[in-house]
Amino acid sequence: MVKKSVICTAALAFLMSFSVAAMADNGPAHITLGAGGKKPVEFNHAKHQEHITCAECHHSKDAHGAQVAYVEGQKIEKCETCHDGSIANKKVKNFKGAAHTNCKGCHKAEKKGPTKCKGCHPKK
Ligand code: HEC
Ligand code: HEC
Ligand code: HEC
Ligand code: HEC
Repeated sequence: MVKKSVICTAALAFLMSFSVAAMADNGPAHITLGAGGKKPVEFNHAKHQEHITCAECHHSKDAHGAQVAYVEGQKIEKCETCHDGSIANKKVKNFKGAAHTNCKGCHKAEKKGPTKCKGCHPKK
């Protein structure tokens, strides 16, 4: 009996470590982008993940500051960590530019998802 429950507990902990890791890897299901700023955006991260690969939105940079394509399992940082005004390409210099290029760019190309200001920044 005792042995069995120990095995069960170990098995459960083993399984849980997987689900916790999986959840942590995918980040939050819902994110308020620009929270506290003037133009917050309610972003359904989980829903976007259903049909879109991580690489469409996430990437990293090399030692020279050049963009490096997403590789599975890489460290994922907030866009603002790099798009903080210091990037030379003016279009994606800051978070606003990076977000508009990425988010609106895809919505326009796919003719799905909001492209008008109010679609992402609803008036309060
Ligand atoms: C449509 C775009 C999009 C897709 C697809 C996407 N993400 Fe994200 N993800 C974001 C945005 C935007 C954020 C918020 C970044 C920020 O706060 O600056 C984010 C945040 C995260 C975070 C939290 C980062 C942090 O430090 O707060 C993790 C982890 C993450 N994503 C993992 C993933 C994984 C894994 C996938 C693929 C299964 C994925 N994302 C797919 C756009 C996307
Ligand atoms: C580790 C640093 C880093 C992080 C984190 C990062 N980026 Fe970038 N990103 C870059 C660099 C470097 C470039 C290349 C800029 C250039 O062309 O000079 C770039 C380019 C881009 C571009 C233009 C090229 C393209 O792929 O379309 C977009 C859009 C973009 N990033 C959006 C995002 C978004 C959205 C996030 C957060 C989900 C994000 N980035 C997170 C470093 C980063
Ligand atoms: C690679 C394509 C792609 C990218 C990148 C993308 N989206 Fe979307 N988005 C979609 C599609 C497709 C839909 C429509 C989903 C549907 O109708 O089921 C959508 C729908 C939405 C909606 C409508 C409500 C909802 O969740 O369905 C919002 C808001 C939204 N996206 C915000 C964003 C934001 C903010 C970003 C950038 C951080 C972003 N999207 C990046 C493809 C994309
Ligand atoms: C597809 C979604 C989307 C659409 C459409 C969109 N935005 Fe944004 N916008 C974002 C995201 C994501 C951010 C970054 C988060 C933030 O800073 O609030 C942002 C940031 C901003 C910011 C910077 C806010 C700050 O606090 O620094 C301004 C200003 C802005 N948007 C204005 C507009 C205007 C004006 C339009 C219409 C012409 C528009 N946006 C359309 C998603 C969108």
